[in-house]
Amino acid sequence: MKLVFATHNPNKLKEVQQLFPEEIELLSLDDIGCFDEIPETGETLEENAKIKADYVTQMYGLNCFSDDTGLLIDALDGAPGVFSARYAGEQKNASDNMAKVLTELQNKTLRDAHFKTVIHLNLERHDYVFEGIVEGVITQKQHGSRGFGYDPIFRPKGYDGTFGELPPETKNAISHRGRAIQKLVSFLKNSTL
Ligand code: IMP
Repeated sequence: MKLVFATHNPNKLKEVQQLFPEEIELLSLDDIGCFDEIPETGETLEENAKIKADYVTQMYGLNCFSDDTGLLIDALDGAPGVFSARYAGEQKNASDNMAKVLTELQNKTLRDAHFKTVIHLNLERHDYVFEGIVEGVITQKQHGSRGFGYDPIFRPKGYDGTFGELPPETKNAISHRGRAIQKLVSFLKNSTL
């Protein structure tokens, strides 16, 4: 079966493709000729995920899933949360975002945080929601250059390295997105294949 993943981000597509069985052909937004920047106007991760999946299903009549992710830091009352991409401004720059987080956490000993991914799936006129969480801490400075976004300053609980240092297979197996995608994949295997 063919399924649209509502993203323009090649890093995300690559990560997610590795977790899907061959029987499911994933198409990106660009693959279906959608070059629009879908507005993420929701106030929660759940709302934004639904907005993106509904946009594709309504405009193109296709089965589609979308994800929305946030980094939630305890000492910052859950910020940056839904604003994770543009925490330091509309330029959506990962280095600026990490610098802002590190400045705000300066001298803070409580550095617990978690990534949360919400997936919204529109499949044959029904919709389903899946969630994945990974707990960790924000490090004092950047470590490693793998991954993207906040990866170099997020160390998952139980690991010595940040997501910026860990191999992609390890990140995929335990990450917020990995866990949410695993739930989506087992649902699709049980329901459609
Ligand atoms: P999105 O909803 O997947 O686009 O994620 C929103 C923002 O959260 C991204 O722009 C990144 O700043 C951050 N983010 C999402 N996933 C990850 C990840 O796996 N590692 C680090 N940062 C991430």
